[in-house]
Amino acid sequence: MAELISGKIVSEKLRSELRDEIAEFKLQCGRCPGLAVIVVGSDPASKVYVRNKHKACLDVGIESYQIEYPDGISEEELLLKIDELNADTKINGILVQLPLPNNISEKKVIERISPDKDVDAFHPANVGRITIGNYSFLPCTPSGIISLLDYYGVQISGKNCAVIGRSNIVGKPMALLLTERNGTVTLCHSKTQKLKEITLNSDIIVVAIGKAEFLTADMVKPGAVVIDVGINRNDEGKLVGDVKFDEVSQVASMITPVPGGVGPMTITTLLKNTLLAAKIQNK
Ligand code: GUN
Repeated sequence: MAELISGKIVSEKLRSELRDEIAEFKLQCGRCPGLAVIVVGSDPASKVYVRNKHKACLDVGIESYQIEYPDGISEEELLLKIDELNADTKINGILVQLPLPNNISEKKVIERISPDKDVDAFHPANVGRITIGNYSFLPCTPSGIISLLDYYGVQISGKNCAVIGRSNIVGKPMALLLTERNGTVTLCHSKTQKLKEITLNSDIIVVAIGKAEFLTADMVKPGAVVIDVGINRNDEGKLVGDVKFDEVSQVASMITPVPGGVGPMTITTLLKNTLLAAKIQNK
């Protein structure tokens, strides 16, 4: 049975360190770091994520401003709100929960957020900086995964890494961060041929494709480290990841559970980015 990589344990440790650093920031600057989170529409999953982000902020001493809009809000109204938050010195970080309704361009919204307040690291300026290794903010989920690998002493340098899924939020930046740490990365997606050959040759596999229990034991090299980014409901309504946990955990050396694996780390990195934004803006 593989060792469990617990995002809960690592998050608790990192959040306790953040709590101390934020208290120190408060002493020096006389105020808390502030994070604005905007959610549009009534997607239940988005609402849960946003609620969890709010609770996590309170837990470490970040002031969290939740802004909720109904489905019908216009793109212009949302963009004007972002302008207002960009100019507001109480707000150090701005996060617009994705996905957005079809009438609103995600590209326009992301590009409107000041790169200095872009704690998701989705703005093209920040993506470019990550690509050349000269960044302030790292994207929350991939950076959280690197923190997990570091905590559990998983060596990345020189290892074969397969990333399955090429989203802008997880897959693409994950490939960049593993490359920066000297991993040899194959970025796989729906058109990849002979995926199983690639995964069977990989020491680290990160799965982020949003397909319930996609990665099966026959695709995994014995002793590999498996990171599951997925959150799906299976046919019985049970919460499952993108990895068939029961069987892959018999082959892998280490594996993240769902829930309690990657999820808490995403939020922890958001908190870290918000503190970093506040420090940069208060220099
Ligand atoms: N939707 C799913 N993951 C994320 C994330 O990390 N940030 C934002 N803003 N939206 C998301």
